[in-house]
Amino acid sequence: MSPREDVGRNPILVCAPFGRDGETIAGLLRGAGYSAQVFGDLDRLVSALDQSTGAVLATEEGVAASTVLAAALADQPAWSDVPVLILTSRRHSARLSADGISGRLLADITNAILLERPLGARSLLSAVDVALRSRRRQFALRDQMILLAQSHDALELKVRERTAELEAEVAQRAKAEAALRQSQKMEAVGQLTGGIAHDFNNMLTGVIGSLDIMRRRIASNRLEDIDRFMDAAQASASRAAALTQRLLAFSRRQSLDPKPTDINSLAASLNELIRGSVDERIQLRFAFAPDLPRAIVDVNQLESALLNLAINARDAMPHGGELTIGTRATDLGEAAAQRLGVAPGSYVVVSVSDSGVGMAPDLVEKVFDPFFTTKPLGQGTGLGLSMVYGFARQSGGHVRIDSRPGDGTTVEVLLPATEEEVADEMSATDAAPPGDGQRVLVVEDDPAVRLLVREVLEELGYLTVEAAEPHAAIPILASAMPFDLLISDVGLPGMNGRELAEIARSHRPQLPILFITGYAENATIRADFLGARMSMVAKPFRLEELAAKINAMVAVSA
Ligand SMILES: Nc1ncnc2c1ncn2[C@@H]1O[C@H](COP(=O)(O)OP(=O)(O)OP(=O)(O)O)[C@@H](O)[C@H]1O
Ligand SMILES: [Mg+2]
Repeated sequence: MSPREDVGRNPILVCAPFGRDGETIAGLLRGAGYSAQVFGDLDRLVSALDQSTGAVLATEEGVAASTVLAAALADQPAWSDVPVLILTSRRHSARLSADGISGRLLADITNAILLERPLGARSLLSAVDVALRSRRRQFALRDQMILLAQSHDALELKVRERTAELEAEVAQRAKAEAALRQSQKMEAVGQLTGGIAHDFNNMLTGVIGSLDIMRRRIASNRLEDIDRFMDAAQASASRAAALTQRLLAFSRRQSLDPKPTDINSLAASLNELIRGSVDERIQLRFAFAPDLPRAIVDVNQLESALLNLAINARDAMPHGGELTIGTRATDLGEAAAQRLGVAPGSYVVVSVSDSGVGMAPDLVEKVFDPFFTTKPLGQGTGLGLSMVYGFARQSGGHVRIDSRPGDGTTVEVLLPATEEEVADEMSATDAAPPGDGQRVLVVEDDPAVRLLVREVLEELGYLTVEAAEPHAAIPILASAMPFDLLISDVGLPGMNGRELAEIARSHRPQLPILFITGYAENATIRADFLGARMSMVAKPFRLEELAAKINAMVAVSA
């Protein structure tokens, strides 16, 4: 930009209080194309001073008399430093400079330019030109600062906008994920409920149908082949019992009886059973680690888990192959244990491997889902691996599956190892004398179960006293009536069986107590639940099993 273009915008403010100096100078400036404004005194000049001011031109005597200019200049924005051209006094030049007034001016006015008089027009104009150039650089600086501030603001705004967008996206995704999880959960629940309903209906049809036929046959006195229907009802009911057992195992709510167990001999004892369940084209092998520590586990459930795995292996090898049951010990450190969601420490691993069809990864992901099966209707319930998984988790262990299509499958069950000795089993089938008029208190809220228990007790020769709920049982326990055994349900209205047992023991410290449990949240680990002279039988039970337990308990207390 040339000086001429600054004319309107950046005036030169002139103050020359004596004579016609001001007008002369202004005329000279205007003649050269500058814009000039003349002021009679410095106060007025200062009030016209603003950011658009190009420069100030004043005589030394005018400036020296006033402090307002210095104050106004000190007030400028950071980018601004208005050039002040000072024409030194013609008469006093030497004296003023000598006593330092010009020096003081130079200190107060940071951008002062002293012009020694006499001064030719060309020198004045060239000084003004230099001053305006420096002023224009200040304007350029100001514009850059404004731009910078604007782009900084714009950037901040952009960042804020983008952040908000991202937050909205994240929230949206979380919502979608939650919805997906919910729908997957509902699908799983639906699959579970549907599966149970379907299987139970089949089994109930077997039970109800057989009972109906039996009732009709008995009414018309045709008893010859009634056994067939009894067996059919029994078989259906047993299948239903097995189903609930697996469901409880899956939900980790079965009543477990973990004991220190030698896994090698347990697995070896399954030899016959497994050989009997697979065809001859399948070779059964054992690969046992020597000096295996004992595992703390419920023996019956582990047998059932291994049998489930062996049957799966058999089904994966329709044309024969190799089925290997192996054991080994392993130690899990902090990190490995945390990955599996178990406690760090020693574990016994029992594995079932086959050389069968194997599975693709997306199939492996689903096999633990309850009722997930690839087998034809009626051949698999899809609860085998669910049961194994639930059982292993409830036992403080884990299940790992390793499979590749066409390359066989290995399922490993990890069980916590223990230093404890194998406990001496007191077999429930120990011969026990039949009842001899001893008295048994039965606390059970389900009338059908109460009926069955009373029937068994009476057949065994015991006297039965019944209570349908714990509060009815308490006064009986507090009474003087003699009892040889308390049989109590665990899940009772108002108070659980364990609490009732405490009350019973407060009145009768030696009374043996037998619990009957369906699914008992608090009774899942029997050893933690049972006290001295307490025992447990799980629903549904066979009557012989119940009878044997009752006899053993009464006999021990006798
Ligand atoms: N060893 C294996 N090799 C190949 N596939 C297997 C193996 N074990 C399980 N699977 C697959 O996992 C599915 C689920 O197994 P799971 O044992 O839970 O149920 P199931 O065997 O189908 O039925 P159930 O065990 O209740 O009779 C099977 O249908 C099969 O597709
Ligand atoms: Mg199975």
